[in-house]
Amino acid sequence: MPLFVYEKGEGMSLQHNEIIYLDHAATSWPKPPEVIDAVVKAMQDDAANPGRGSHRMAVRASRILFDARKKLSKLFHIKNPNDIAFTSNTTMALNMAIKGWLKQGDHVIATSVEHNSVRRPLYELERSRGVQVTYIEGDEVGLIDVKEIEAAIQSNTVLIVVNHSSNLLGTILPVSDIGEVAKKHGVKLLVDAAQSAGVLPIDVEAMGIHMLAFPGHKGLLGPQGTGGLYIASELELEPLLHGGTGSQSEALQQPLVRPDRYEAGTQNTPGLAGLQAGVQYILNETVEKIHTNEWALAQRLMEGLKSVNGIRLLGPELNQPRTGIASFTASNIDPSEMAFILDQYYGIAVRSGYHCTPLAHHCAGTEGTGAVRASVGVYTTEDDISALIAAVSEIVEQYDV
Ligand code: ALA
Repeated sequence: MPLFVYEKGEGMSLQHNEIIYLDHAATSWPKPPEVIDAVVKAMQDDAANPGRGSHRMAVRASRILFDARKKLSKLFHIKNPNDIAFTSNTTMALNMAIKGWLKQGDHVIATSVEHNSVRRPLYELERSRGVQVTYIEGDEVGLIDVKEIEAAIQSNTVLIVVNHSSNLLGTILPVSDIGEVAKKHGVKLLVDAAQSAGVLPIDVEAMGIHMLAFPGHKGLLGPQGTGGLYIASELELEPLLHGGTGSQSEALQQPLVRPDRYEAGTQNTPGLAGLQAGVQYILNETVEKIHTNEWALAQRLMEGLKSVNGIRLLGPELNQPRTGIASFTASNIDPSEMAFILDQYYGIAVRSGYHCTPLAHHCAGTEGTGAVRASVGVYTTEDDISALIAAVSEIVEQYDV
């Protein structure tokens, strides 16, 4: 028997099937129409096997991949598009970087806002390769002191891994400053751009980034099953996958040539067609404009939630830099219950729980409860934000019995 039966108030009824989508940090939705058109066109006309065969449709499929690489290179200021290897998501890209670079006895520095997609591969290498890992503790909002990173560098440190922006707190980490420290000490820098690709400016050269892992399905507005890893030309990684590349077929060893070395097996041509259209949308709109809008929506959301009784906001203070993420707890309701009611009674999609980042929850002091996370995207409106504030305020009031 439920202890409490929720009774939704008047005035916020949504049409059946209508959804207010505030879960862009997990996967952006909806996608621009041109992304969907590009996926459908590729499926209909161009989805032969890229890089294999020389018939016209295979050539068109290869061109889709080349276009996607070129546009991503423009967005991230990458000199050689072939330094981008496509993956099925950020997790695969991070695994490729971490497992491809770290060897027996190496030391790596990470931070306490890392996602499990960094923490788990590192843990695996601690066990299997005797890799040493140091986590730099963040403050309550997950900000780390770059001097602490520098102080943690040892003679066997070969990698610093840093999340560009926390998927729980929205905090933006000082990647350029970390890049300078890495350069000074000859250590490589891997950046997890899961929450920043397409919403924060990224310049791999200027920021001193050696490897950049990014998703296609979040800020880049592409389909799920797309993503990639930029690997600086001077770095040679041990490939994660070995297999057919359509090149040097007589050799047993994985080819050295890029991107083949890191792209064994047939690639996701329709997905990458959608991704290149998503990146084109961002290039047209500009990252700066997208970030400014998303920041303003997050501020508005935080301002509204701040005035609701018992709400605690996580992450940077109002008016401080952040991405379009606003996470919170309510003093009288469990986060999962709040998210459930928002979905079932108000048609509002948010994500609750631990967000695969227990370390960031530890920073925020929510390791025992989890939190509710609302995250905005390119199509989020002021009305969506107002609806969430009104719903949270009504739920909190109803629970206050
Ligand atoms: N890592 C994604 C998130 O933060 C799925 O929700």
